[in-house]
Amino acid sequence: MKQTRHRKPVIAANWKMNKLIQEAVSFVAGFPKDPEPDQKIEVVICPPFTALQTVAEALRGTKIKLGAQNLYPKSQGAFTGEISPLMLKDVGCTYVILGHSERRHILGEQDTFINEKVQAALAHDLIPILCVGETLEERRQGQTETVCRSQLLGSLEGLDAEAVKKLVIAYEPVWAIGTGVNASAQDAEETIAYLRRVIAEKWGDEAAAAVRIQYGGSVKPQNIAEFMACANIDGALVGGASLESDSFYEIIQGARRGSERHEV
Ligand code: 13P
Repeated sequence: MKQTRHRKPVIAANWKMNKLIQEAVSFVAGFPKDPEPDQKIEVVICPPFTALQTVAEALRGTKIKLGAQNLYPKSQGAFTGEISPLMLKDVGCTYVILGHSERRHILGEQDTFINEKVQAALAHDLIPILCVGETLEERRQGQTETVCRSQLLGSLEGLDAEAVKKLVIAYEPVWAIGTGVNASAQDAEETIAYLRRVIAEKWGDEAAAAVRIQYGGSVKPQNIAEFMACANIDGALVGGASLESDSFYEIIQGARRGSERHEV
């Protein structure tokens, strides 16, 4: 039986700390304006802050959405060096990546702070892409589920079911990020199905059925279709392979093919 996917998958490019303005301009110039003509998949580009304005202008009139990679959980004020959700809305963002493992591990971000950011994003009508994932050490010790559950519940503390339905969650095992070693589609599907069960326990079946959960970590044109063929995987958060317009476009096309293979 072929089951229609009722959640719209999201393929998001996380450029991380890459691309000067001119490089961002070249990427968008070389990227199809309409990569998803029938809108079965949501396409999002998350440039660094310095390129948001330029990319927003280049994407105007297309269906491609703009995302940021972080925010500070206040609307404005004396927070030198920080960027507010209000500013992200102002520049044209729809999405914001929060709790990325690079911020958790390099900058020491904790779940309580990430939780404030999630709440601030939602209060300003930005859709959080909340990242969770275990390190290699944690995986070896059999703690994948415990770690992901604790990050998820800690980051979503205080949200109601309606808020949870709006989220995108990205399961990004730290050992798979930027290493070329992706999780197998089966392992990713199992952990993502587990996260959906955690959401069902805490916020109910409706929220669990609505929330979109992506996989991230060494996603490439060659492996995206396998992930997308899994019942619980609703897209991908792509780092390295999103930096070239050709490979990011191939990932979107692969996602379409995989999604069509989505059978139960
Ligand atoms: P890579 O696709 O480069 O492994 O990065 C994944 C990631 O961290 C996306 O947020």
